Amino acid sequence: MHGHGNDMTKHRIIFDTDPGIDDAIALVFQARHPAIELVGITSVFGNADIDTTTANARYLASRFAPHVPVAHIHGKDALGEIERIGHVDKQEDGHAAHRFIVDTVRANPGEIMLLAVGLLTNLALALKEGPGVAALVHEVVVMGGAFGIHGVLGNATPATEANTHGDPDAADIVFGAPWKVSIAGLDVTHETVMTRAFLASLRDGAGDAGRFVWDVSRFYQGFHADDGVPDGIYAHDYSAAAYVVARDLFATRRGPVRVLTDGIAAGLTIQKPDSMHTHAPDWDARPDCEACIGVDADAVLDLFANTLRN
Ligand code: BDR
Ligand code: CA
Repeated sequence: MHGHGNDMTKHRIIFDTDPGIDDAIALVFQARHPAIELVGITSVFGNADIDTTTANARYLASRFAPHVPVAHIHGKDALGEIERIGHVDKQEDGHAAHRFIVDTVRANPGEIMLLAVGLLTNLALALKEGPGVAALVHEVVVMGGAFGIHGVLGNATPATEANTHGDPDAADIVFGAPWKVSIAGLDVTHETVMTRAFLASLRDGAGDAGRFVWDVSRFYQGFHADDGVPDGIYAHDYSAAAYVVARDLFATRRGPVRVLTDGIAAGLTIQKPDSMHTHAPDWDARPDCEACIGVDADAVLDLFANTLRN
């Protein structure tokens, strides 16, 4: 929340997303959390092409966030081929996604949080379109990257996480812009696994939203199993949404972040921690980011379940 204490000021969020199953799970959480106001949804390609992610965003908004506008970049199903209930009746907002971001931020100076859980293309385009906009954003929270805290540098390649891998130039621009950036990368998302038992308890005890999360995760869990991952799914994008409302559940490290933009490790994120005093001009001229390096995974999962059950 913007203030302290128990005021009911809500986090006002533009959710930039490439739905995507874990994106869908993150959206359901936001739609249900009382301290979050979704101001808009902007779609970006990633988990699928732009038409598919936009159609998925429209479907999700119509089902869980009916009055929230959806905007995309320009005018195979990434939701795991679930059966869709009802009609997609959301119309896309007439703006391009980055234009929607710029206009909404300018209309609400200091208020808007950008929660970005796909490639950072739309945010980089917003900065290009309106460089002054960075100073007007309340905060940027990103799911992306990996800092090797637990020995993992990537999932798209051995050295790169999918969201920074997909548009490394955009990621380097976003992490270097003069706004406040927090990053939840694989260092924390791989620690937070929604197990089959957890998902089944949501299916049985958390109403329509719980059943949706179960349905949408069946495909993803199979995908993870094929990939040799434990009996469950990584809570990638939801982790960034959880950070917005419960950052005390995360340990962070401060320091500028660079993203490699060329070569076989393009998309690799590297932070110079503030505790390091070595002269490093490629980092030193850039603003600090908060990188998540630890998480109370049980509490983050409880937060999800409790939010859906309420
Ligand atoms: C990220 O990549 C996407 O496929 C997921 O939705 C998540 O945002 C994980 O690396
Ligand atoms: Ca995503």
